[in-house]
Amino acid sequence: MIVNDDEQLKKVFKATRWAGSLPDYTPSDNEAPTAYIAILLDKNIKESPGHDAGIAAMSISMVAFDEGIASCMLGGIDRVVLRMVLEVPEHLDILLLVALGYAAEKQIADEAEGGNIKYWLDENGVIHVPKRPVNEILRWNTYVN
Ligand SMILES: Cc1cc2nc3c(=O)[nH]c(=O)nc-3n(C[C@H](O)[C@H](O)[C@H](O)COP(=O)(O)O)c2cc1C
Repeated sequence: MIVNDDEQLKKVFKATRWAGSLPDYTPSDNEAPTAYIAILLDKNIKESPGHDAGIAAMSISMVAFDEGIASCMLGGIDRVVLRMVLEVPEHLDILLLVALGYAAEKQIADEAEGGNIKYWLDENGVIHVPKRPVNEILRWNTYVN
């Protein structure tokens, strides 16, 4: 489902939670997403989504990025409220939301130290998102080498 109606956007925003690692951070009114895509599972077709929601969310994010549109996958959502707001029938599960808009901030991917991937905001308003280094997570041919 695509949500882009102004009134619906406000209601959906209230059912989202942002940046758990930055407790004082919430997008302001003019930073709030201007569209959402809700990824739904039709339980009449399949009981469980398997990996499909992640694949869909990643595809949406990558195509959006290619079009110059920023995105944020949202799993920490109030699904009870969203079901009411979006009038989603019971046979559909709300799996993930992808928030979309033009980016209001800059992010930098830093190298994580000691496995710490907690993101943080610097004094210039840049969000640093630590990522574990490739050589720590990638294995070639056998796990032990
Ligand atoms: C499945 C999934 C659910 C997420 N849920 C939320 C969420 O509810 N709220 C939030 O602020 N970030 C959430 N995130 C984190 C952001 O989408 C994003 O991954 C994070 O800010 C780091 O940015 P990056 O993935 O571009 O490096 C979620 C990420 C994933 C993969």
